[in-house]
Amino acid sequence: MPPKLKILFVVAETWPLAKTGGLADVVPALAQALIERGHDVRILMPAYRAAEEMFAGKAAGRLFEVLPGVDRARLIRGALPGYDIPMWLLHCPGLYDREGGPYGDAQGRDWPDNAVRFAVLCKVAARFATGRGLDGWKPDILHGHDWHTGLVPAYASFDSRVTAATVYTIHNLAYQGNFDPGLREMIGIPPQAFQPDGLEFYGRLSFMKAGLWYADHLSTVSPTYAGQIQTREYGCGMEGVLQHRRDVVTGILNGVDQVVWNPATDPLLPARFSAASLDGKARCKLELQDRFGLARGPDTPVVGMVGRMTTQKGWDLLVQAAPALLADKVQFVLVGNGEHDVERQVAGLAALHPDRVGVHLGYDEALSHLVIAGADIFTVPSRFEPSGLTQMYSQRYGTPPVVRRTGGLADSVIGTTPAGIADGSATGFFFEEAAAGALAAALGEAVNLFRRDPAAWARLQANGMARDFGWHHPAALYEDAYAAAWRQARARRRAAPA
Ligand code: ADP
Ligand code: GLC
Repeated sequence: MPPKLKILFVVAETWPLAKTGGLADVVPALAQALIERGHDVRILMPAYRAAEEMFAGKAAGRLFEVLPGVDRARLIRGALPGYDIPMWLLHCPGLYDREGGPYGDAQGRDWPDNAVRFAVLCKVAARFATGRGLDGWKPDILHGHDWHTGLVPAYASFDSRVTAATVYTIHNLAYQGNFDPGLREMIGIPPQAFQPDGLEFYGRLSFMKAGLWYADHLSTVSPTYAGQIQTREYGCGMEGVLQHRRDVVTGILNGVDQVVWNPATDPLLPARFSAASLDGKARCKLELQDRFGLARGPDTPVVGMVGRMTTQKGWDLLVQAAPALLADKVQFVLVGNGEHDVERQVAGLAALHPDRVGVHLGYDEALSHLVIAGADIFTVPSRFEPSGLTQMYSQRYGTPPVVRRTGGLADSVIGTTPAGIADGSATGFFFEEAAAGALAAALGEAVNLFRRDPAAWARLQANGMARDFGWHHPAALYEDAYAAAWRQARARRRAAPA
């Protein structure tokens, strides 16, 4: 394997061009860390309307056909704004130039042609690796992220001209991209691939299954989740194929972009702070209480939560756990959006307790920084969590997290015990069962320590703020995954019929 790799990241979202969740934070930070280690990393993403506007004036390449019956596409070459990462936007206005998000319209309905939209992205990625001159650059590694890119390893393994090794990273197994098998021919999948030992998943054509089946190496975003997805409880039906491929599955905990998420320099905060002086954090708390119309009170514990409003994240547990804490004069600041049912429950809590619960339903990057900085306690009560980022951000911002012991939450928080506070290891609080009572008890424990033992609380904050969640270490583990993929690809090609 060449010591300096050419790596193509294939993604459906990357900050700051498109973001619906943590994937968008991971892509540029991991790419940057790999570049700093000497690799040539480039990103390929669809030219959604907003992304294309940010690339205005950049040169577009020639038109080429991707799939029969679909508009021809071209590549716009530029660099990811705010980073020095070379990237291509895949320009195909009929598929990507729309009002709405990467996956659906403004009402949250999936685009009906998502299979074709992302098949086209995958096909172009595989074509890069054939050396057929898309901008004259041929990757050694094709690295796809999440179901939208599951067909990258499939197309790559169907085309004998592709020499690149493929790595496929599962950021969330619950989103699978399972479609009507009638699409198979149109998106250029050979009939023999549509079977259980291939990309069929209970009669559907599954992008996720394709990634899991065909990639030379698989990774997911924490060691604990890597084990969990091989079980029935967390495998979302894919546990069989993941057990089958367990020798090529690696769990690599996400890092944090420590430039963007640094309380000492964060431009989105009204005041900055560090472990040496938390005065700025106190100002952020007052501003947060003002923003949400809550009574100012430096001593009132404020619990914050930020995230997509889906069943995964356990908002319903928080809504049920909250009354016990509200009776104990705790305030809540909650920011998120997503499923209407979950939004309604969270808004209902605020309507009942307007003086103690502040809610913002919507996506607001600056507000997410203010909550993470200004709250005293942060919570992530997820039913499952592949990695999770906000619990790492909150540790960096002196806001100890209360999390369920699952997935990446288990791997990134160190639970509080008296010994753990004293020896500098404890950074947060765990609860085990996905139940409101368990969450309420853990939040109660945190609130008690906050109120009763300011010195211990300050140590807990300092422990979290001192942790290094940088991408340097995960990037080194991805290098190992690329090496494993490289070996696997060579073996695969040797075994292929001539
Ligand atoms: P997931 O990818 O499952 O949504 P992560 O914890 O990995 O969870 O990442 C979520 C990211 O999205 C974080 O950067 C978080 O701050 C951000 N985020 C989620 N919802 C919102 C929102 N409503 N407003 C602002 N940022 C949000
Ligand atoms: C997914 C997961 C989350 C993870 C993120 C980035 O959306 O739900 O746990 O942090 O991807 O890897």
